[in-house]
Amino acid sequence: MAEFRLPARSKVRKGRTHPASGSDARVQRFEVYRFDPDRGENPSVDTYEVDLDACGPMVLDALIKIKNEIDATLTFRRSCREGICGSCAMNINGTNSLACTRAIDAGRRPVKIFPLPHMPVIKDLVPDLRHFYAQYTSIKPWMRTRTPPPPDRERTQSKEDRARLDGLYECILCACCSTGCPSYWWNSERFLGPAILLQAYRWIVDSRDEETGERLDDLEDPFRLYRCHTIMNCTRTCPKGLNPARAIAEVKKLLLSRTL
Ligand code: SF4
Ligand code: SF4
Ligand code: FES
Repeated sequence: MAEFRLPARSKVRKGRTHPASGSDARVQRFEVYRFDPDRGENPSVDTYEVDLDACGPMVLDALIKIKNEIDATLTFRRSCREGICGSCAMNINGTNSLACTRAIDAGRRPVKIFPLPHMPVIKDLVPDLRHFYAQYTSIKPWMRTRTPPPPDRERTQSKEDRARLDGLYECILCACCSTGCPSYWWNSERFLGPAILLQAYRWIVDSRDEETGERLDDLEDPFRLYRCHTIMNCTRTCPKGLNPARAIAEVKKLLLSRTL
């Protein structure tokens, strides 16, 4: 599969305008990034006018309406439509968000929709997340045990131990945080980024996992972990209200405590 690199935004040109039909329409403009590597052209921003009285309230509703009724070539990912799958993550009016849980900012200003920043683009609003998922695989995101399980039941944990996973297990790997992190923009080849580090911490604090030391060893690296400079963009942008920066700080604290 070919590599798709995000063209410089300075080369984004004004694209086509698709006006709304009907004089009584409550028109909202949407400016949407378009890029098709097969066409060999610079990306463009197309403008679509949507009658909000005939559209659902969320940005994803508008994108689906555009695709169904105005321009079938518009490409984006979505699945659950309720903030669970993470596939509709994109940059909306300058903030990384889930299109399905982000309400349309109705008004005179257009709603600007771009793919997640600093990622290669496969087409239109679809980023190439293969590297992101490879980094996820690298932390071995499953329970690693050495002892045999109890013969008559699952491996259990106390309510207190289970509570330590709150604020971590809810992560849907949408990549909004990692693609909003300046350190990840410039070092994504080696820095794991906030999403993957939050996931790594989720397994480190799981009382049932028996390879905590190995997990910490694996993160003790100037690039994989320590490229986080606590800028906090990740926590500000998470559409699930999670705090990856705190998870990263907890990993650093655990590593520090091993040296004392
Ligand atoms: S706190 Fe760390 S991971 Fe989060 S945005 Fe800042 S540098 Fe990136
Ligand atoms: S921490 Fe939040 S923003 Fe980051 S991947 Fe998980 S759900 Fe998405
Ligand atoms: S469609 Fe699943 S999170 Fe938006």
